[in-house]
Amino acid sequence: MKIDILTLFPDMIESVIKESILGRAINQNLIEVNVINFRDYTENKHHKVDDYPYGGGAGMVLAPQPIFDAIDAIEMSNKTKVILTSPQGQTFNQDIATLLSKEEHLIILCGHYEGFDERIRTELVDLELSIGDYVLTGGELASLVIVDSVSRLIPNVLGKAESHQDDSFSTGLLEYPHYTRPSDFRGLTVPDVLLSGNHKRIEQWRLKESLRRTYKRRPDLLKNLTLNEQMVRMLRE
Ligand code: ADE
Repeated sequence: MKIDILTLFPDMIESVIKESILGRAINQNLIEVNVINFRDYTENKHHKVDDYPYGGGAGMVLAPQPIFDAIDAIEMSNKTKVILTSPQGQTFNQDIATLLSKEEHLIILCGHYEGFDERIRTELVDLELSIGDYVLTGGELASLVIVDSVSRLIPNVLGKAESHQDDSFSTGLLEYPHYTRPSDFRGLTVPDVLLSGNHKRIEQWRLKESLRRTYKRRPDLLKNLTLNEQMVRMLRE
């Protein structure tokens, strides 16, 4: 997958994507990430990218010219999806991450200041995404959240040990509790079943713990849950 990120703060993006699993995925050419400073495209002699809002009011508005030109300079196909990060967008979640992980080419446009000239929204953008009901100083952190969660769903980006099959949300449930050695740490013991070696009982315990945790912490998720046959069988046994 190719991802182009348009931002006024390229260092914010570059410093994060070079690290850890994203950095490894980029080095292995599983994803290609290009960070583009759209200030480089401004025709304004003072390199300005924003301007006062028509009709007055506080704050500045990102002007269309640098952003239209930056996007024009990117090689696009009819499969390219242009995403705008903004608190006004659809709330990003695991289902959207899964859909986006199947795309070939994403362009992510990071907002800043008070907002965008509306023509950017109407002419360039396919999907407007918010990462939650709070306001960030800019779209960079939001675009990193999107890139990170989408990338880890791309085949081979996660190693075997980092598998996403059991992720909270991908199963519709929160994850069950995990333990590692020692089995007794300061008198705090690991549930016996996990030491039993009985694979079936362990699976059953994990499913029940996932259900219990989801019920306690995120009962809203249970509304959309359909137990698959394997889950029903496990709970009956
Ligand atoms: N820009 C500012 N706040 C944002 C949010 N919550 N999500 C995405 N982009 C943003």
